[in-house]
Amino acid sequence: MTIPEFQQHKRQRKKLVVVTAYDALFTRILEQAGINAILVGDSLGVVVQGRANTLSVTMDDMLYHTKLVAGAAKQALVIGDMPFMSYQASQEEAVRNAGRLIQAGAHAVKLEGGRPMADRVAAITAIGIPVMGHLGMTPQSVNQYGGYKVQGKAKDRAKALLEDAKALEAAGAFAVVLEAIPASLAKTITGALSIPTIGIGAGPHCDGQVLVVYDLLGMFDDFVPKFVKPYAHLKADALQALQRYKAEVEQGTFPSDSESYH
Ligand code: KIV
Repeated sequence: MTIPEFQQHKRQRKKLVVVTAYDALFTRILEQAGINAILVGDSLGVVVQGRANTLSVTMDDMLYHTKLVAGAAKQALVIGDMPFMSYQASQEEAVRNAGRLIQAGAHAVKLEGGRPMADRVAAITAIGIPVMGHLGMTPQSVNQYGGYKVQGKAKDRAKALLEDAKALEAAGAFAVVLEAIPASLAKTITGALSIPTIGIGAGPHCDGQVLVVYDLLGMFDDFVPKFVKPYAHLKADALQALQRYKAEVEQGTFPSDSESYH
């Protein structure tokens, strides 16, 4: 999927389906399922690296996982997430690090923040790199928010988020993720923008949805936000399989004749 095709979905009122992936195996499965775009999210800091938040994820981490995903992806749009402190300090760093993610195989990059980041979005898009914005509960600002909390409930914050979204569009963003905001605000923002909105905890009115792959497959249960719907229970399945394997090895029933060479 190309950026123009991605954006055409909004004009054609076709929902966009986005899922995160961090390696080649899951990328192949997502592509078989016909997922439109794969986000190599810095959520890998939590679900792959086991940290409490995304703040310690480095550019090297993102480059490694972006290479794994981009190397396996054949159809989906691959979006590389810009980790904390890879774009905040200066426009120049933002452009350089966005370029490194593209060289690792991403087709586009994503960064968090509204109007204060609009100049970064403009500078990166000016050199031909598509940028996806990210507003609402932006995990790299978790310390400022005092935890993972729904954003934009108060009238002034809702207005500010709408202005942020318009600023990102004006700066050249090709789409914007809306995370953990009221559904009514996501509807207003979606109606006000000509670029697609991709919701996560932002209700049903966005132009598309994104979920973390391990959340939607029921593999990660340390913290399950209200907006996650587990479409499978792979952690329970894996546990059952591993317990059976352990029991069979201990009882001497695995390997049997059929798993042995003669
Ligand atoms: O890092 C990530 O996976 C994300 C999505 C959850 C939007 O930013």
